[in-house]
Amino acid sequence: MQCLAVCFVLAFCTAACALENGLMRTPPMGWLAWERFRCDTDCLMDPDNCISEHLFMEMADRLSEDGWRELGYVYINIDDCWSSMQRDSQGRLQADPKRFPRGIAHLAQYVHDRGLKLGIYGDMGTHTCGGYPGTTLDKIETDAQTFADWGVDMLKLDGCYSNSSYQEQGYPMMSKALNATGRPIGYSCSWPAYQGGLPPKVNYTLLAQICNLWRNYGDIQDSWDSVLNVVDWFFNNQDVLQPVAGPGQWNDPDMLIIGDFGLSMDQSRAQMALWAIMAAPLFMSNDLRTISNGARAILQNKLLIGINQDRLGIQGRRLIKEKSGIEVFWRPLDKGASALVFLSRRSDMPHLYKTSLKELSYKTGVYEAYDVFSERLLPQLKDSTEFGVSVNPSGVVMWYIYPVAEWKKEAGPGRFSKKLIGPKSHPHANEVDAPFLLL
Ligand SMILES: *[C@@H]1O[C@H](CO)[C@@H](O)[C@H](O)[C@H]1NC(C)=O
Ligand SMILES: *[C@@H]1O[C@H](CO)[C@@H](O)[C@H](O)[C@H]1NC(C)=O
Ligand SMILES: *[C@@H]1O[C@H](CO)[C@@H](O)[C@H](O)[C@H]1NC(C)=O
Repeated sequence: MQCLAVCFVLAFCTAACALENGLMRTPPMGWLAWERFRCDTDCLMDPDNCISEHLFMEMADRLSEDGWRELGYVYINIDDCWSSMQRDSQGRLQADPKRFPRGIAHLAQYVHDRGLKLGIYGDMGTHTCGGYPGTTLDKIETDAQTFADWGVDMLKLDGCYSNSSYQEQGYPMMSKALNATGRPIGYSCSWPAYQGGLPPKVNYTLLAQICNLWRNYGDIQDSWDSVLNVVDWFFNNQDVLQPVAGPGQWNDPDMLIIGDFGLSMDQSRAQMALWAIMAAPLFMSNDLRTISNGARAILQNKLLIGINQDRLGIQGRRLIKEKSGIEVFWRPLDKGASALVFLSRRSDMPHLYKTSLKELSYKTGVYEAYDVFSERLLPQLKDSTEFGVSVNPSGVVMWYIYPVAEWKKEAGPGRFSKKLIGPKSHPHANEVDAPFLLL
């Protein structure tokens, strides 16, 4: 009965709400060149880091040989600066002949041979942000077909050198054109980021119908300040953004910069934890050839990836913002489980934050929690048990938590706390089997 209700709602939504290419039922994972390698085209002076087939082949080798692919990191995505400055004689985009001498189709084959998928980049405007040829309205079908012919699996469509009326026409047109190629191609739309990311200028209902993921906000940079800026924007606007995410349709707070230069290990754990709470796409932008063991361990944490990839695809929320600089985030998960993240924005010393599950609106009961980073099972907790978590400065503590009694048995229809979800709740929220939360 309850499953019927859940299945019906999900099936209904598959037919009526999301883009119907069947892709990205959980947030896509992989590697994206931009943040780490930008528009470095100097293959003479910087051959190992320039945007070239060599770079993508090396990263594909690393994804397939160093355990990333098995964990779900399957997309290897090209960003700007891959193309020639001119289209070919038939008006098609072509790769830069010096940097991609064997062309994109060859690269796609190389990537597919390793069990990976290839993503490419275009721009809904006259030029890409880096000044390369853009996709004007008259070129949409040509470019979609070119990408499909090459065997591309995902397209990020940027929005430089464009305007709002042009984007309003172009982004839906590209969605149709990709569909018409007959090749399933994941579609990432930068459209909302160019329109301020919020209604009324952004229509998230429409976006969910035409795109698999979308960049809501500005580019991430390699610093903790940038991570916090992104986090603040997404959680300050959670009433708008949280309900629109779901299987096949994701908010994208941009790349993971873990393994680069700007984040400490604590800050790296924080980015990973908060991206999991946000049900965010996990696109690393780092150098997988030289990544440290510490960064690798964070990015390859199986439970953390499992939380990010939770089947229900419900985006989480910030529950509390304390004056002390502690913030608490929560995400409901499959089988009545949930994830909690305690973030410290302090800069003094580890802060002992005291609370109880009851104060975090959990229902009466006994719970078991597993510390995601220390990989320790914690002593059982009652909802009323006061506990303390010691949170490092600019770090997090993350728990995977589930009710002991209800963990195995069939639970009745769960209901979320109004206080947590709010009136603009996720369309699936009432159907989710989460018996342990307060009404
Ligand atoms: C194209 O859209 C239709 C629904 O309109 C869907 O059934 C089909 O799978 C889509 N094809 C591709 C390749 O995305
Ligand atoms: C929007 O951009 C297109 C393409 O460059 C241009 O033709 C059109 O005039 C622009 N519209 C506005 C309102 O600026
Ligand atoms: C947003 O898009 C949807 C789907 O295309 C449409 O039904 C709705 O009217 C739009 N909302 C606004 C406010 O324009």
